[in-house]
Amino acid sequence: MTTTRGALEWRLRAQRLADQLVASGDIQDERWHAAVAAVPRHLLVPTAYEQDQSGRWMPWSTVDDLDRVYSPETLITDIDPAGLAVSSSTKPDLMARMLELLDARPGHRVLEVGTGTGYNAALLSHALGDEHVHSVDIDPDLVDAARARLAAIGYRPTLAAVDGAAGLPEHGPYDRIIATCSVPRVPWAWAQQLADDGVILADVKVALSAGNLVRLTRETDGTLTGRFTTRWAGFMAMRHHTAPTIPGPSPTSRDDATTRPTSMGLARVWETPPLWFLVNLWEPQPIGFGITLDPATRQPSGARYRAEDGSWCEITSRADRCIVTEGGPRRLWSNIEHATTRWRALGEPGWDRLGLTVSADQQTVWVDHPDGPAWDLPAERR
Ligand SMILES: C[S@@+](CC[C@H](N)C(=O)[O-])C[C@H]1O[C@@H](n2cnc3c(N)ncnc32)[C@H](O)[C@@H]1O
Repeated sequence: MTTTRGALEWRLRAQRLADQLVASGDIQDERWHAAVAAVPRHLLVPTAYEQDQSGRWMPWSTVDDLDRVYSPETLITDIDPAGLAVSSSTKPDLMARMLELLDARPGHRVLEVGTGTGYNAALLSHALGDEHVHSVDIDPDLVDAARARLAAIGYRPTLAAVDGAAGLPEHGPYDRIIATCSVPRVPWAWAQQLADDGVILADVKVALSAGNLVRLTRETDGTLTGRFTTRWAGFMAMRHHTAPTIPGPSPTSRDDATTRPTSMGLARVWETPPLWFLVNLWEPQPIGFGITLDPATRQPSGARYRAEDGSWCEITSRADRCIVTEGGPRRLWSNIEHATTRWRALGEPGWDRLGLTVSADQQTVWVDHPDGPAWDLPAERR
């Protein structure tokens, strides 16, 4: 492939992706359309990873599949020694939607938490000018690679390898702060580095898949408040240099397990995201989940849940009912049933009815209005 032909090939695809994001409604502002059409994603993500049938992560060279790179697909770009994906290039449709929600305009100073590949920093730099763009990542290798690749395509935003929970105070205040990793609470440092009429867009998750993007602005009393976005999104969780002090999950035991029918008829509660968020908000510990497979057919037959104290439950869907087996110190499914009844009594609020208020010492999730029913976000555990 000659250089000219190569350039033509990615440009055509980037243009097509930008048009597609306009057609899907993810992009409304011409500046983001122009940015998506102009940024060579394959040069910021030269290598991506995918799992083979045995679960092993295999690298692939993005230049060999430009159609895939210029499509609304998340590309996994870094795997830690334990085999966990720790960095990725976020789906361009989600990135575009977030940039629209962020409402960053010419002249705005922006802080991005989670540089990753630098793709989003490139979109921001294209639209706002790189002197206005700041981006941090906890992994110095990712920052070095992103800096070199961004410079090679003509973008020079300010990048730093720091824990983004502290923001980047030396370059603040920022008109816009966007986090592309999820946080269990909004770090107060971000509020301190936000301009008075600024906006924070962050993915707040209290447990796996339990939360969503929230858009916060400042109130006259200095607190931040705002609503969750109507479409759900999920980012990799923010990590820190300090090793977690949380003990591993307690072993589960089947000794005291009990089995009963359940009328809930909703085995995979995490598929109703606002409910799953409230379940985890109301529970004393985050709940992990997984699908169970029918041993004979290998088809999904139910779900299992587990908390750190060793409480667990398994739900099996039968033709006309669900059966639950639960064990451990707490009856987890009973708690999930109870939380579901509470959610129904509130009128089954979706994301459009849920909001968050953040102050220096308290973060509360509310229904309909900051003065409505409200619950504190749990304290961050590191
Ligand atoms: C989904 S990726 C970001 C994608 C990126 N915006 C892009 O356009 O490619 C999430 C990133 O958050 C970073 N991250 C995780 N914890 C962090 C922290 N405490 N501070 C800053 N970045 C963090 C990860 O290293 C990872 O690169």
